[in-house]
Amino acid sequence: MQLQQLIDRHWVDYTRQNPSVQKIYNLLTSQGEKVRHDHIAFRTFSDPRVNIDVLEKPFLDAGYREMGTYTFTRKHAFAKHYELPGDEENLRVFISQLQTEELSPFIRQTMAGLVNEIPGESLEPEKLMFLGTPWGPLSYETYQKLRDESEYAAWMYAFGFRVNHFAISINGLGKYDTPEKVNDLLKGRGYIMNQSGGEIKGSRKQLLEQSSIMADHNQVAFREGTHGIPACYYEFTKRYRDEKNRLFNGFITQSADKIFESTNYYEK
Ligand code: NI
Repeated sequence: MQLQQLIDRHWVDYTRQNPSVQKIYNLLTSQGEKVRHDHIAFRTFSDPRVNIDVLEKPFLDAGYREMGTYTFTRKHAFAKHYELPGDEENLRVFISQLQTEELSPFIRQTMAGLVNEIPGESLEPEKLMFLGTPWGPLSYETYQKLRDESEYAAWMYAFGFRVNHFAISINGLGKYDTPEKVNDLLKGRGYIMNQSGGEIKGSRKQLLEQSSIMADHNQVAFREGTHGIPACYYEFTKRYRDEKNRLFNGFITQSADKIFESTNYYEK
């Protein structure tokens, strides 16, 4: 599959599964904005059958290079980011994984059990990244028990392999050229922003500002019945240039740590 086809397919699934995304995209384009994305993000587990080294393959094959690593101690997660060299407007790729070996036996066993249920032929990266939850009926009790220890683990259990979010490049917008303006527009339309660590994560001094809406609720069928739980969200990033006029292309660990919480459980 060509890279652009792969990204387009993720976009179709993501907008279908998370109605707020297409609404926000349309809201900006209806105001004359041309929306370009800064990055796309995926989540997975540290299990060598499905880890970052597996999911990165289609991007490396397309010419992406690994440009940064990030450790989230409290969340027991690790991430890498990738760029297409020589293109400031490239769609960056951010892939994180839950370090299950650092977590309780319950999480380790549950997560390994999920990976065991993936049919061998589906472990091929370009299939795996679209797979969703190929594991047996979901249990709401398990979902809640995972949440008690790790929101990340619970999210992976309920939603599995899919794009976690796209991020709009505020640098590419005209009228809405700051995170404050984007956030005000969205709040005015009733969207709930992620407030963890402040509505805007990072700063001009750190050369990166980020904000995001809280994830859309999806109706998920559990063995015990259907529950509305947070699925995926939309993010907004503004990048700045350093004193040598180089655009900052990386991510800030402390900010990304808070952005992760856009999929934390909340009542709607
Ligand atoms: Ni992001």
